[in-house]
Amino acid sequence: MKNFISVHDVTDINALVKKALAFKANPLMSQSLGKDKRIGLLFLNPSLRTRLSTQVAAKNLGMEAIVFNVDKEGWALEFEEGAIMSGNTVEHVKDAAPILGSYFDILCIRTFPSLKNKEDDYSELYITQFMKYAGVPVISLESATLHPLQSLTDIITIKESLQAQKITRKPKIVLTWAPHVKPLPQCVANSFAQWVNAWGEADFVITHPEDYELSEEFTKGATITHNQDEALKDADFVYVKNWSTYTDYGKIYENDPRWMLDNEKIALTNNAKVMHCLPVRRNVELSDEVLDSPNSIVTQEAANRVWAAQAVIAEILGAKA
Ligand code: CP
Repeated sequence: MKNFISVHDVTDINALVKKALAFKANPLMSQSLGKDKRIGLLFLNPSLRTRLSTQVAAKNLGMEAIVFNVDKEGWALEFEEGAIMSGNTVEHVKDAAPILGSYFDILCIRTFPSLKNKEDDYSELYITQFMKYAGVPVISLESATLHPLQSLTDIITIKESLQAQKITRKPKIVLTWAPHVKPLPQCVANSFAQWVNAWGEADFVITHPEDYELSEEFTKGATITHNQDEALKDADFVYVKNWSTYTDYGKIYENDPRWMLDNEKIALTNNAKVMHCLPVRRNVELSDEVLDSPNSIVTQEAANRVWAAQAVIAEILGAKA
């Protein structure tokens, strides 16, 4: 593996999941793989889980992890080729990225979308420019349209839960839109859809209000419905996430609280396990009664972020060796 930006960087999802679960069983089994190597974690946006789980993963592999909050501590970066930098940006990525690449063996970067211009966000300019100029492998810590470390974690958690429940048939997985007070990126939903479709071992249904269709580039292969109750019927896993509109880009049309998952909706499912990438707005996106019930596996899911990151970093280090 050279970079980790989307599911397309993975040749065998199940093999990567197996590797992650092996690390979960034995976190220090490859403690010397990253000896004398450094990983740089660049954040242009806030994070709790991604930041800390990636640091722990690197440490487990014997690597030094250095975090740089670019948005707060760095120079304002320019990403446009040929830009006349007479505005607020101070340093071009063309100059900064190779320097960062000389300090680190692997660079990781979090760059949220602007939610102002769909074409710009969906061009993935920031992460693409980093990959172009860094000269070392790049791992996405969530980009403008995708969140691959989260999605790998989600598949790991689903497989683990299937094994624990001794379910051997194809599970039904439902991705449901949930209300929120702010317009949020489409990254987690896009990425989850992309990975579940690529994995191919589930009946996959996406449900959301009208006008919340995601890009077909990611959803193709899933059943899509505006009827949440119908979608939830017999679900084994319900993945809850808000996203803003794709067609009228970055807007909120709908905040109907009836889309929030509560016990009445769980009763429609096959006693489904409930997932969310976190952070979650309690009693807006997901009710307390569901989050605090045995149906919720959000803590297990967040804890699994370490093993996903560790498997990906190990793959990249292995490829470099
Ligand atoms: N799920 C996730 O990416 O969490 P953070 O934003 O806290 O990193």
